[in-house]
Amino acid sequence: MILGIESTAHTFGIGLADKGKILANVKDSYTTEKGGIIPLEATKHHLQIKEKIYQEALEKANVKEKEITGIAFSQGPGLSPCLLIGLRFAKELAEKLKIPVIPVNHCIAHLEIGRLTGCKNPVLLYASGANTQIISYSSGKYRIFGETLDIRLGNLLDTFARYAGLGFPGGPRIAKLAEKARKEKAEYVELPYSVKGMDVAFSGLLTNLKQKLESGKYKLEDLSYSLQETSFAMLIETSERALAHLNKSELLLGGGVACNSRLQEMCKIMCQEREAKLFVPEPGFLVDNGAMIAFLGEIMFTKGIKISIKEADIKPRQRTDDVDVSWK
Ligand code: ATP
Ligand code: FE2
Repeated sequence: MILGIESTAHTFGIGLADKGKILANVKDSYTTEKGGIIPLEATKHHLQIKEKIYQEALEKANVKEKEITGIAFSQGPGLSPCLLIGLRFAKELAEKLKIPVIPVNHCIAHLEIGRLTGCKNPVLLYASGANTQIISYSSGKYRIFGETLDIRLGNLLDTFARYAGLGFPGGPRIAKLAEKARKEKAEYVELPYSVKGMDVAFSGLLTNLKQKLESGKYKLEDLSYSLQETSFAMLIETSERALAHLNKSELLLGGGVACNSRLQEMCKIMCQEREAKLFVPEPGFLVDNGAMIAFLGEIMFTKGIKISIKEADIKPRQRTDDVDVSWK
């Protein structure tokens, strides 16, 4: 029985995994109406909530503390102050229960939890507020086949939404407007489409959108619709290229933006056209969550990957391809 702790950004989550089954997945997120995430405020939130989330997870899973055999925690990438809360809590529990800790890479956990959907060897399109990457396993490592060169997709949606006065989180609010526009046969407004090799860039698109909104010549619905169509198409193009280069036939989604039904639909169309299969985890496993940390933690633990409390540390800038994948 492995307990997983997630605390890379605004979400504090705890999951419990046993023999590949998720027994609990409890979380709470710090949100703001205005401005971005303030790391110290998120830290306060995590500190306040951690004990409650822990107790709730034990209750949900109907397990006693002493049944836990290892504590997995998100070691990076993420915001240092937030990561530290998770690390300290992991150490506290490990000390109390006299069990080892397992350091887990957050991005790879998003990919591995996809196994629950039945995929075997996927290309992961991971799009969240703080990450936008195309990741897959190749020649002994998880490698990044494409990523954003500037801002992340969720960040693009949230920033534009704030600018337009839609509040936070912006992704779902933009999605609603875009859906309405699509039903009403919206006009597609041409926006900068920036794919460089396998990578994408969104900041030019953001500037252009802001200018278009300010000009007063466009409806916010039409801009929301065009924003989705353009930015999603860029990621579909690079994901498809990754599938083709790697000769793989499974596309897996991860990250909060992957909750978007239009993004899912566009992925589905692309997969159908190249006879690939699309896998979409349930929403609770798409967004940041403790269950994915517990799930990968258990796989690593079973392969003998565990460290002592003293060795455990955070890696705020850990790159996906830095991780030694000795559990595969
Ligand atoms: P990470 O630490 O993995 O980068 P995160 O802190 O950004 O993650 P997530 O919960 O994975 O957290 O993703 C949040 C993002 O997902 C926000 O940018 C939000 O606007 C976006 N989002 C959520 N639902 C939707 C949706 N239906 N359509 C588009 N974007 C969405
Ligand atoms: Fe994430």
